[in-house]
Parts: sequence; structure tokens; C-alpha cells
Amino acid sequence: MRTSWLQRIALFSLILALALPPLAAAQSAADTYKAKCAACHGADGSKSMMGAKPLNGPDVQGMSDADLNAAITDGKGKMPAYKGKLTDAQIKDLVAYIRTLKK
Ligand code: HEC
Repeated sequence: MRTSWLQRIALFSLILALALPPLAAAQSAADTYKAKCAACHGADGSKSMMGAKPLNGPDVQGMSDADLNAAITDGKGKMPAYKGKLTDAQIKDLVAYIRTLKK
């Protein structure tokens, strides 16, 4: 009895340990997006401020990860550059986050 109780705790901790890091990363990309990007792009990516194409629409979703990464890193037109303001890892997470906005 005692062993199975301990085993359950061990298994539960293992599942938590495996499940939490990706959740934490997704959360922080969502927070970064909300804080730095949503004003122009909208919380769901549908806004098109200053001529930006909606991030959740087919044009942007059809771009490669490398293109999205470059637009965020170096800026594009009125889109501010985030080089030096966000880490490469944060920008990569944002690209992944933009993929989750797809309609
Ligand atoms: C001041 C308003 C503004 C902010 C803040 C902003 N963007 Fe943009 N973004 C734009 C505009 C305008 C464009 C369109 C650029 C163009 O095509 O001339 C754009 C383009 C983009 C593109 C490329 C899409 C395309 O049409 O080529 C991506 C990806 C993007 N933004 C992501 C982000 C992310 C991620 C953030 C937050 C870190 C962010 N933007 C913050 C205004 C903004």
C-alpha cells in the first residue's frame, strides 16, 4: 500500500515536471505578445494598424518562420525592430505564438 502511494506521487511529479516547462514558455510568449505587440496587431492578431497585414490571416501565416523572425528582429516598414529588446529565444517563441493565432 505504502509503496503504491509513493509511486503515485513520483509519477505525478514526473508528469508535472514534463508538462510544466512548455506551458511556462507558451505563457511568457503570450505575455510578451500582449505587452509589446497587441497594441498594433490586436490580441488575436486580427488588427491591421498602419497597413500591417493581420498576423492571423493567410498572408502572414503563409510566410516562413525565418521571414517572421526577420520582420520582428529587424523591423519592417513601420514595424519596430526588436533586436536587442527581445532575446533570440523570445523572438522564436513569438513566431511560434503567432502560429497559434492562425484562424
Ligand atoms: C507600432 C506598431 C507595431 C508594433 C508595436 C508591432 N508591430 Fe508588427 N508590424 C507593424 C506594421 C505596421 C507591420 C507591417 C510592416 C510592413 O509590411 O510594412 C508589421 C509587421 C509584422 C510582421 C510581418 C508581417 C508582414 O506582413 O510582413 C510580424 C511577424 C510582426 N509584425 C510581428 C510583431 C510582433 C511579434 C510584435 C511584438 C514583439 C510586433 N509585431 C509589434 C506594426 C507593429
